[in-house]
Amino acid sequence: MLFPCWTGIPSTAYGACMTPARRVLQVGPLKPSLTETLRTSYAALVLPDDDAGRTAFLAEHADEIAVAVTSGRTGVNAGLMASLPSLGAVVHFGVGYDTTDVDEAARRGIAVSNTPDVLTDCVADTAVGLMIDVLRRFSAADRYVRDRRWPVDGDYPLTRQVSNTRVGIIGLGRIGSAIAHRLSSFGCSISYHNRREVADSPHTYVASPRELASQVDVLIVAAAGGADTRHLIDREVIDALGAGGYVINIARGSVIDEAALVDALTTGRLAGAGLDVFADEPHVPDELLTMDNVVLLPHVGSGTVQTRAAMDDLTLRNLDQFLNTGQLVTPVPMPVSTGGQ
Ligand code: 8YV
Repeated sequence: MLFPCWTGIPSTAYGACMTPARRVLQVGPLKPSLTETLRTSYAALVLPDDDAGRTAFLAEHADEIAVAVTSGRTGVNAGLMASLPSLGAVVHFGVGYDTTDVDEAARRGIAVSNTPDVLTDCVADTAVGLMIDVLRRFSAADRYVRDRRWPVDGDYPLTRQVSNTRVGIIGLGRIGSAIAHRLSSFGCSISYHNRREVADSPHTYVASPRELASQVDVLIVAAAGGADTRHLIDREVIDALGAGGYVINIARGSVIDEAALVDALTTGRLAGAGLDVFADEPHVPDELLTMDNVVLLPHVGSGTVQTRAAMDDLTLRNLDQFLNTGQLVTPVPMPVSTGGQ
């Protein structure tokens, strides 16, 4: 393996190009094998979690750090950027980067990358799996069998058909489109709401989340997280979906007003929900834990061996290319006005 040195001249030994402001910093937990690769092949440092440890670490190493490697679960905020004067790039493992302050990165000329495309299929599979599970209540029916209720209580109650339902998708990007593609083959009618109407889309654009919710049986949330989409799905939208409606979320917990969702489920104003993401992970509201019309997953949307390996690979390609050339393979769009990448 070539060891990168961000000079354009690959070196076969990391030490040969180890000058100040060339170091890699891991921010937050990552997949163990990726952590190991960062440690052994890039001599990466790891940012301590605790305040005292972090202060001491930054006093010693802040000037050396050229790249931060992180995930959407942690990110790099404006405060950490301010503490790392030589930071040139934030490389994300994952497609979501809402925990990194992209405005501040653009202002400081810090490039940001994520891992798009490689996880699209897996996350779309998860959305469809959650939808089928919630409507057909497979997880609840599985518990029914395991609890030995079948011989005692008889046949399981009838559930809701999946095929031919009306589905509304919030966020028709890569993942939203892959969900639409899958559900079209189930005979579902697909409409969507997006920041902008998608040119040439075969699906029906609806101008607001509330209007979309009023027209569908299942609302699937596939929008990016962050300040722009915070609580986009609020009490009004949930009530527009109504007592026969279902919510599926594979995006970010922040996109839904979780308290309003829990309230609607508790009071029977919503038929069910399938959730892979939550407002305060890994914490899940207690009320949801006993509901058979709710399926709860521990943020596993992209969590397969194959997809995580592809995410590792793209993360490292971004890191290598930045260290070698100063450019990223899959940079995220930066705010235009600030002159970022
Ligand atoms: C990962 C995700 O679980 O890509 C994302 O944005 O939410 C997931 O694929 C996450 O990035 C791993 O930390």
